[in-house]
Amino acid sequence: MPHLAPHIETVPVSGIRHIFEMSTKLDGILSLVIGEPDVAVAPHIAEAAKRAWDADATNYTPNGGITPLRRAIVDKLARENDLHVDIERVWVTVGATQALYQAMTLTLAAGDEALVPDPGYTTFTMGVRMLDARPIPYSLTPERGFLPSIEELERLVTDRTRVLIVNSPSNPLGAVFPEEVLRELLEFARRHDLWIISDEVYEYFTYGEKHVSIASLDDEHRVFTAFSLSKTYAMTGIRVGYLVTPPALATTMRAVQEATISCVNTPAQFAAIAAITGDHSPVAAAKAHYRENLVAATALLDARGIRYLKPTGAFYLWIDVSHVSAGDVADWAEEFLLTERVALAPGSAFGRSGEGWVRASLATTLEVVTEGLGRIPAPGDSVAALGETLVGA
Ligand SMILES: Cc1ncc(COP(=O)(O)O)c(C=O)c1O
Repeated sequence: MPHLAPHIETVPVSGIRHIFEMSTKLDGILSLVIGEPDVAVAPHIAEAAKRAWDADATNYTPNGGITPLRRAIVDKLARENDLHVDIERVWVTVGATQALYQAMTLTLAAGDEALVPDPGYTTFTMGVRMLDARPIPYSLTPERGFLPSIEELERLVTDRTRVLIVNSPSNPLGAVFPEEVLRELLEFARRHDLWIISDEVYEYFTYGEKHVSIASLDDEHRVFTAFSLSKTYAMTGIRVGYLVTPPALATTMRAVQEATISCVNTPAQFAAIAAITGDHSPVAAAKAHYRENLVAATALLDARGIRYLKPTGAFYLWIDVSHVSAGDVADWAEEFLLTERVALAPGSAFGRSGEGWVRASLATTLEVVTEGLGRIPAPGDSVAALGETLVGA
């Protein structure tokens, strides 16, 4: 039998999936494990997809997406992100997942290195490994308010480094990088002539801190930005996102889109136009729902003396369980699932810095959030505060 490409076996399996799959085989589970909106897709979005099907809009589209959708995205980028781009810089993709992968395909060759956040979304590491490149984790830890340290990045950068991956608002942390941090990251990328791949799929869900697109601060055209409709409009399974590239890459992008997907599902593209240009009150309602869960969840953790990072974005809560996890949070999360019937994502699934932490998704009902978090054992009465972004006894 022929053998697989050796580097494919280095693509890591997701530790979140493991808990999720275990949880689906058990009864009576309170699930806080999956990052998926619990609200329904808005009727006007579903109607647009149905109309496309009925009109037999089922043929291939241009590689970059249908023109009205790309135009709607260009307008949205100017309005919401202060990004002023022409249509040839906007590429409709199969969710942000493919947008990220496409950006990595354009910038990483085998043996190159990409700086990835730790803890960070698992697909960053997986995508880099798929290309036989090396993910180099940079840490986001409580000691530094969960923000990147330029000093650490300077230590990690080598002559093989090509890419810095940035994710704000962040999964799993819920942290939003302030503008001055984004400027420092751009300056760092400039010093070492790196590309930046910015994942902004949670752009609409911020609480207090303003979301800034790093590409809007970039006058050197070194930023690729991955956006998604998945979380904003609760349409994760419809699979529409988009990549905004630096200028003059249209010919290359056309070729790589052709080689990978040809184009995105046509009725889904019509649904995307309705989502982007239509009524946004369902987005506001979803945001209010996540915020309500966040307020209740943090009040409960405060009352019980359990520490967590106060999130300013996304819909996750990053919770310190080091008082019970005994140095192996993956093991603890499995045990907790079996004994307490609550599914949480072990922090170590997002990188080494996540050891001792869990991620709880707040995109579920208030009852599941409060009941599930209420089952996490409280620590003793002697936990030291680590900094002002951390809340807890
Ligand atoms: C940070 C981040 N980026 C990208 C994605 C993938 O989103 P999409 O459904 O658009 O592929 C997710 C999904 O959980 C995510 O959390």
